[in-house]
Amino acid sequence: MQIPFNKPSIVGDELHNIACAVERGQLSGDGRYTQSCNQRIVGMTGAKAALLTHSCTAALEMAALLCDLGPGDEVIMPSFTFVSTANAVALRGAIPVFVDIDPATLNVNPDAVARAVTARTKAIFAVHYAGFPADMDRLAQIARDHGLFLVEDAAQALGSTWRGRQAGSLGDMAAFSFHETKNIISGEGGALTLMRADLIERAEIIREKGTNRSRFLRGQVDKYTWVDLGSSFLPGELIAAYLDAQLDRADDIRARRIGLFDRYAAAFADLEDAGRVTLPHAPDGVVGNGHMFYLLLRDIDDRDGFIAQMRAAGILTPFHYVPLHSAPAGLRYARTSGTMTVTDSVSARLVRLPMFWALSVEEIDRVVATARVWLLGRTDA
Ligand SMILES: Cc1ncc(COP(=O)(O)O)c(C=O)c1O
Repeated sequence: MQIPFNKPSIVGDELHNIACAVERGQLSGDGRYTQSCNQRIVGMTGAKAALLTHSCTAALEMAALLCDLGPGDEVIMPSFTFVSTANAVALRGAIPVFVDIDPATLNVNPDAVARAVTARTKAIFAVHYAGFPADMDRLAQIARDHGLFLVEDAAQALGSTWRGRQAGSLGDMAAFSFHETKNIISGEGGALTLMRADLIERAEIIREKGTNRSRFLRGQVDKYTWVDLGSSFLPGELIAAYLDAQLDRADDIRARRIGLFDRYAAAFADLEDAGRVTLPHAPDGVVGNGHMFYLLLRDIDDRDGFIAQMRAAGILTPFHYVPLHSAPAGLRYARTSGTMTVTDSVSARLVRLPMFWALSVEEIDRVVATARVWLLGRTDA
């Protein structure tokens, strides 16, 4: 039996909610389920507002509009991230400025961020890799010192905390993903959370194709019209109906994934002590959400051999981000500040192990046993 890397989950009332949404007769956005999801996300993150979107990509594009990015503006971000972090900036004609990550956290290196600031810098887009928040105290200080927006790319980080504060409430705004590979899912899906009350109305307008339709629906204006730039960033009710059931069980999902994470961590601890492999550890002051369990192997040959051996045993263990600074579009639309030694090294050595709601203890133990054969240098499995 194959063990996939990810399997989308049904954890509760998803199908019932979808049937209710159909019966209720509103399938377009901002109905009852969308409102419920927005409220749940506010409750979970402590943000001032949450707006459901089609994807984290859409939420990042909204963030770029809210930062008023334009040609010549610069936004500092890690190169070790998904393309959407950079695309959102480049789509506005602004320039992503890539900096290296910290080898201990795989999150953006605050010293490199500080060195990358120029008179054109307008924002920092911080990514919370593997669900572990970046050093938001240092980044907030840099943002304050230079008058920059601080945006969290919290695609993987719903339910994680930094010094007791929830991801999604650690900057000016944050983008979440509910793609089927995340902890809480709706197939495709996302949300933008806002910590600044002064940005909320404009965010609603941007999400509603540049119109003040949200105010109209609340009875605050008697007709709605085109007032700003915007696009169609809001999902329909069927997506929200599925998501609402998942959010309802967010605590159980997080606890289960942390349990799986801990089982992996215990199973490989001796190999980390022996210097064979590096495991993820929550940085100081961080509590994670069990989003991802990765191994850092010796080099790209070790990684490719590992992936091949696991695949031969029916277990899928993909690598992750291909650095953006050396990608064709990265060379065309972005620039790099400082060296990228850690990014290049980590990207070549990282593999992700299966992690999903329905992953059984027996399956995890099979993953561990197969992985250990490779890590211990035996090839006769
Ligand atoms: C850091 C990061 N940002 C953004 C995204 C894009 O998320 P979505 O697929 O919801 O657009 C991802 C996807 O995995 C991601 O890892």
